[in-house]
Amino acid sequence: MLTLASNAPSVPEPKPTAERTGKLTDAERERLLQAARVMLDRAYAPYSNFHVGAAVLTEGGAIYTGCNVENASYGLTICAERSAISAAVAAEGAGMRLRAVLVLNGNNAPCSPCGACRQVIYEFGPHATVIYQGRGSLEEATATQLLPAGFTL
Ligand code: THU
Repeated sequence: MLTLASNAPSVPEPKPTAERTGKLTDAERERLLQAARVMLDRAYAPYSNFHVGAAVLTEGGAIYTGCNVENASYGLTICAERSAISAAVAAEGAGMRLRAVLVLNGNNAPCSPCGACRQVIYEFGPHATVIYQGRGSLEEATATQLLPAGFTL
């Protein structure tokens, strides 16, 4: 029989109903897309030249945006998704919950959120819809599908 080591990650149960919401509408998708597009011109990406824009929709119905902000000390770079989520928390406070996240890049490259961003999205919306550029078209998954064993305290 297979036994789990004591330090093995456990897959958390899905969070209860309050965080489960109805499906994203086409109108909501469109609002997110337009908002993220605006961010592509605001990105500070002199090192990678890879401009990224993100928009998040909160459970409260508001949209917040962010772009990547790079630094000469490369590791200090903040991704567009985390920048948008920080703006959402700053505006709505600690109770902010994500309904959806959309991320776009200016190179039309397939690009799903990095591991660090997946964990941060998961924190505020394990059931949030995440929309990102695939090969040629937008793709969609839930935060939990992108990060099946997300960390919680
Ligand atoms: N980047 C994002 O902002 N979001 C992603 O989902 C992937 C990567 C940024 C970080 C860095 O400024 C540049 O893209 C290249 O990695």
